[in-house]
Amino acid sequence: MTDHIYAAEHPESDRDRGGGFTLWLTGLSGSGKTTLAHLLGPELDQRGHVVEYLDGDTVRTHLSKGLGFSKEDRDTNIARIAWVASRLTRHGAAVVVAAISPYEEPRQSARAMVEEHGPFVEVFVKASVEECARRDTKGLYAKAFAGEIKGFTGVDDPYEEPSAPEVVIDTETQTPEESAQLIIAKLEELGLIETAVRA
Ligand code: ADX
Repeated sequence: MTDHIYAAEHPESDRDRGGGFTLWLTGLSGSGKTTLAHLLGPELDQRGHVVEYLDGDTVRTHLSKGLGFSKEDRDTNIARIAWVASRLTRHGAAVVVAAISPYEEPRQSARAMVEEHGPFVEVFVKASVEECARRDTKGLYAKAFAGEIKGFTGVDDPYEEPSAPEVVIDTETQTPEESAQLIIAKLEELGLIETAVRA
């Protein structure tokens, strides 16, 4: 059954639940997106939000299995993540996306899709290629610099910095906890989450 027919027969099912939003973390591989996502999730959970993670690495083992890293495949991956994020946002979830999402235009489309149902907060998780390569947690930068992986973001594939992110995080100078607190503060300022009562 297509969506709109179902919605016509079940109008109550087509209603936005309210309270949902998408926090979209974009940045190079190894910039700290996943680390931040997993620091943020519990904070949101503590404030009563239903949290869902859409992490590039995980999404690519399920929803985007089989996709590669050409521009076309990356755009498809981002469009899929955006669609799921918009659906979850509509149902009141706090969605934490962690994907390189290297191109501005698909990120803008993701924003437009999510904003039909709730706020979209773009976070630029900033770290230089040199720093990400120094961390090289997955050993992929070494392979990319050796030419064993082609089309690696930041090495021989582009990363377009966000033009107007809600938050910029500098993971070279901040600890992950400091970065997470800056994002939490922004979400509070935007009125998307309750101010925490700290013990
Ligand atoms: S995106 O470009 O489509 O947003 P996504 O975040 O899903 O990328 O996946 C990135 C992860 O895939 C990286 O963290 C890394 O582990 C892995 N990866 C494998 N090949 C590449 C590549 N060529 N460029 C970037 N990341 C790659």
